[in-house]
Amino acid sequence: MKSIEIMVKEHQNIRRMLKVLRELSYRIMTEGKYNLEDLPEIIEFVRNYADKLHHGKEEDILFEAMNNQIEKLSKSGTITGMYIEHDQGRLFIANLESGYKAFKEGNDRARLDIIANAVAYTDLLDRHIEKENTALYKFAENMLPDEVKSKIDSDCDNVENEATNSGTQARYLNLLDIMESNYSTV
Ligand SMILES: [Fe+2]
Ligand SMILES: [Fe+2]
Repeated sequence: MKSIEIMVKEHQNIRRMLKVLRELSYRIMTEGKYNLEDLPEIIEFVRNYADKLHHGKEEDILFEAMNNQIEKLSKSGTITGMYIEHDQGRLFIANLESGYKAFKEGNDRARLDIIANAVAYTDLLDRHIEKENTALYKFAENMLPDEVKSKIDSDCDNVENEATNSGTQARYLNLLDIMESNYSTV
């Protein structure tokens, strides 16, 4: 499925930003070289690219169809679990943002909230992505009827085109390149 191929690519990009966030947290912990103002940029990437665009397609199109079409998955709570993990991620990011604001205002102990929530988020999302790549997406490919797959592909195409027209992918992939070069670990 074309939509899933694109989602797997998005996972690669999201994982690249998770590495950046982890490295930035490490530098905050060790008082290394970092720019605190990169943090809201990363949060924006997470909210708009990872959450709005990517999780949006999963929640509103792919998982929605899987929940309706594959009884085994809806009954076992497999799909619900994925929605819950998206929500958990949103909570970590909200807490990360509060930590950033408090730290910026001079509360040195708030660096703990930045580091704890960043590490919790990167770990949660990395495991979540692994589950989707190795299980959920395979279930979709193997268990959905062809006409449902085509509908998912065309619905995702519409979202993709809309995002392209508003420059979403270009903007966030460019930000990703910049952040990656600033927070390389080699
Ligand atoms: Fe997901
Ligand atoms: Fe995903």
